[in-house]
Amino acid sequence: MRVVLLGPPGAGKGTQGQALAVHYGIPHVATGDIVRDHIARGTPFGRKVEAAIAAGNFASDADILYWVGRRLAEPDAQGGYILDGFPRDVAQAEAFDAALSAVIVLDIAEAELIARLAGRLVCPVCDAVYHTDLCQPRRAGVCDNDSTALVRRPDDEPEAVRNRLQVYQTRTEPLKAYYERRGLLRCIDASGPPEAVTGDILRALSTSLAPERVF
Ligand code: AP5
Repeated sequence: MRVVLLGPPGAGKGTQGQALAVHYGIPHVATGDIVRDHIARGTPFGRKVEAAIAAGNFASDADILYWVGRRLAEPDAQGGYILDGFPRDVAQAEAFDAALSAVIVLDIAEAELIARLAGRLVCPVCDAVYHTDLCQPRRAGVCDNDSTALVRRPDDEPEAVRNRLQVYQTRTEPLKAYYERRGLLRCIDASGPPEAVTGDILRALSTSLAPERVF
């Protein structure tokens, strides 16, 4: 099973990616998490992209393809994976030559995205995602998994969110038509509670998996 999660910032790709990874026993590979991990560790790649990411702009295709390729070559990804945030534009999709089972699009209104990003909290250690009102941790401000203090992402500030939404429309939206033409696209209403959205994705995947194909 090789699935791509597509959708605007705040649609729930990370939330659903983690749930699907647990369900299928395959890794959740999120390019945003890879980038943030490099920034947190102060690697050369992290230092190079830190300012661009905080403003809501992309890392370079060459860097992303390199790090995704390395991650997907690891043993735990040989039985499949849930990709989140990659491919992010048609150039990345064309360069990525893995066979895919399906591409899930999380559909949601812009006002809801803004509300979700305004209250998002993340765990800097395990990447778990919470919300101050919508998906609260058991103890306020603390990760359920490892008790780490939760933080806000710098790119969740209003100006960066506006830029990310615009970049999504111009660069990432065209991927829908790209994967639609290949018969892989499955659209899911992402406005309901997280568990309901997960159920809808699992139903879509169980009834309409394409044979994995390379394009
Ligand atoms: P990335 O981390 O991929 O950011 P994004 O695509 O903007 O998506 P988000 O992580 O903001 O949102 P999400 O859809 O995962 O929503 P979440 O589940 O957290 O990338 C970050 C940056 O890295 C990019 O801007 C770019 O610069 C760079 N980058 C990444 N990939 C790249 C690539 N391939 N090429 C180049 N650059 C790249 O949910 C959001 C909030 O809503 C949370 O608070 C959550 O608790 C809540 N929530 C989720 N689902 C629900 C629900 N159903 N009901 C109520 N609340 C919900």
